[in-house]
Parts: sequence; C-alpha cells; structure tokens
Amino acid sequence: MKKNILITGGGGFIGSHLVERCVTLGHKVKVLSPYNIDSSWGWMDTFDKNIKDNIEVILGDVNDFNLIKKKTKKTDVIFHLAALISIPYSYQSPKSYIDTNINGTYNILEASKENDVELVVNTSTSEVYGSAQYIPIDENHPMNAQSPYAATKIAADHLCLSYYRSFNLPVTVLRPFNTFGPRQSQRAAIPAIINQIINGKKKIKLGNLHSSRDFTYVEDTVEGYIKLIGNKKSIGEVINLGTGTSFTIKETLDLICRILKTKIEVELDKKRLRPKKSEVNQLLSNNLKAKKILSWKPKFTKEKGFYEGLKKTIQWFKENKNLSKYNPDQYNV
Ligand SMILES: NC(=O)c1ccc[n+]([C@@H]2O[C@H](COP(=O)([O-])OP(=O)(O)OC[C@H]3O[C@@H](n4cnc5c(N)ncnc54)[C@H](O)[C@@H]3O)[C@@H](O)[C@H]2O)c1
Repeated sequence: MKKNILITGGGGFIGSHLVERCVTLGHKVKVLSPYNIDSSWGWMDTFDKNIKDNIEVILGDVNDFNLIKKKTKKTDVIFHLAALISIPYSYQSPKSYIDTNINGTYNILEASKENDVELVVNTSTSEVYGSAQYIPIDENHPMNAQSPYAATKIAADHLCLSYYRSFNLPVTVLRPFNTFGPRQSQRAAIPAIINQIINGKKKIKLGNLHSSRDFTYVEDTVEGYIKLIGNKKSIGEVINLGTGTSFTIKETLDLICRILKTKIEVELDKKRLRPKKSEVNQLLSNNLKAKKILSWKPKFTKEKGFYEGLKKTIQWFKENKNLSKYNPDQYNV
C-alpha cells in the first residue's frame, strides 16, 4: 500500500538513497532538509528529474517544533535520519548534538503523537554499543557511550522506546552498523581512502588501522527501512542492521588497493585518532532479529559482498561530477 512518508535527513548519505527508493516504490515522499543560503538540497540536487519532480522538500530544522508539528500532519510513516553524525565533531560541539539528536528526536516523537502517525522509525547506530563486549553484538548488548555522539543517540533511542511504552506510539529503533557507498561524506574511512587514492596520492593519511567494523552497503541498509513499512511485528523493537562480518580498516584498505590495482603507503594522521577511551575497537552485528522479523536479507555480505560494494562505491567516486564534490586535501571532522 502506498504511504505518505516523511524522511528527515533525506539530503544526506543514507537518506538520499532512501528517498530515491521510496519514490521508486510509488510512495508519496516529503523530505526535511536544512535551509542554507546556497539553495542546496544536499544530495537531492543530483537526483534524476523523475525523482526530483516527485518529492516535496521542506526546508527547515528538526529543532523547530512548530514546523515539525505542522509538517507531520497527514503523514503515515516517518523515517527519522536527521542527525549530527561525526564523532570527532561531537568532541568539539557536544551541545549541538544534544540539540539536534535528542531534542530533534523529541520533536519528531511529540509531533507524531499529536498527529497520529502510524509508524516512526528512529535511526540509531552501532556506536551505542561501544567496543564489543561479546561478538556478534545482539540487541541486548550493553550500551556504552564512548563519545558525545553515541550518548545522544542512546538518549534518543530510549526516548523513542519510552514513547512506545508510555503512549503506545508506534516506534521502531533501527540500528545500522557502519554503512558505506556512494555519497558518503569524506570524514568516514572508506571515502577517505578511495578519494585520496583516486586523486593520485601515493601516500595517504589515515587514523587507526586496527579497529574493525561491520560494513554494510547502503542498498542493504535502505532495504531494512523499506521492510518496516506495514510491519507490525517491529513496533516497539530495536533491530540491528549489519552483515555479520567485520573487517579492519587495514583489510578494507587492502581490498580497495586490490580493486584499484595499486599499492600505497599510509601516513598516520594524528588528527584522525580518537582519544584512547573513546576508540571503539570492534563492531560486529548479530542480525538474526532483522532476518526473522523483517525477512531482511543483505546482499553484500562476507568478503565477496564487501568487495562488490567497494567496487560499486569506487566506480561512483571515479565519475568526475561526483569526485569534484570532495576535497582529498581537507579533513573536516
Ligand atoms: N553512515 C553510517 O555509517 C551510519 C551508521 C549508523 C547510523 N547512522 C545514522 O544514520 C543517519 C543518517 O546518517 P548519514 O550517514 O546519512 O549522515 P549525513 O550527515 O549524510 O546525513 C544526516 C542528515 O541530517 C541532516 N541534518 C543535520 N542536522 C539537521 C537539523 N538540525 N535539522 C534537519 N536536518 C538535519 C543533514 O543535513 C544530513 O542531510 C543518522 O541518524 C546517523 O546517526 C549512520
């Protein structure tokens, strides 16, 4: 059944892929995107005309309760992705994370309650678990905020679950592990590696090479959201979205070099290291719940799937119009 869907953060990396997929499936899509003086809609600027013509873009801030209340009227589903997401920037400006990630989520919940929204999906993150205390990490793993970013995401998740328990608000907390693919920002490891190599650097700057992550291709992550539409069993649940395999940054770098048929040197960039106690060493998901409740079947799994996802990502970066949006010499947290 076709739904009226509001996607917050739809101009961002994951959100833009989700917008395209929802429009392609025939849903009526509104997108909340921050106002800026450049008249930019983020990655939505690059959409094909048939997608662009079929979205309503609402310029505004998730912190503006009046706007959110008005724009969530006559909405069936909210996919809430708007957030500040950089971990290093959360060391520098924690209050802005409290405002956007906690207060912004409160606004979505409260407005949804008033407007009888049929499903609110809050986007969590595997960072809420901190370094794995056991693997694979299931949804019962303790939460351990190792950064202000993680702390605000934990708070937002709990707020969502409290609205389900207190007011019966139909909420699902979807918890993606590290997502990668076209349009990801340069601060993340995979785009940082690809970008520097494609731009001809023989020596590239990176942070910790030894931490490992459950890298999930963006198409698979998006499919997790789609599977939630009309799925009653997921209401009130927290659901991990990860492939079940992890790779270190060094292993990831080696795979990228294999695809690009190159050898490069790595220079440790201290700016990219997290403080010791803030470093999350390993994230690896148990995805049985997503498989069971959502019938979610990630396509890009194990080394073969990761390799395929990396190949698609590299191909996208190689296209000039995409590469020109990145600056390999600049590290913005
Ligand atoms: N990228 C990952 O690996 C990953 C993994 C797990 C969870 N997540 C979560 O997924 C969501 C999307 O992340 P992403 O990787 O696409 O990041 P992104 O930075 O590309 O997207 C975030 C979007 O939120 C918007 N936004 C930020 N502040 C806002 C505000 N005050 N009002 C309205 N919009 C605002 C940004 O403009 C951007 O479009 C986030 O909630 C993030 O925590 C991401």
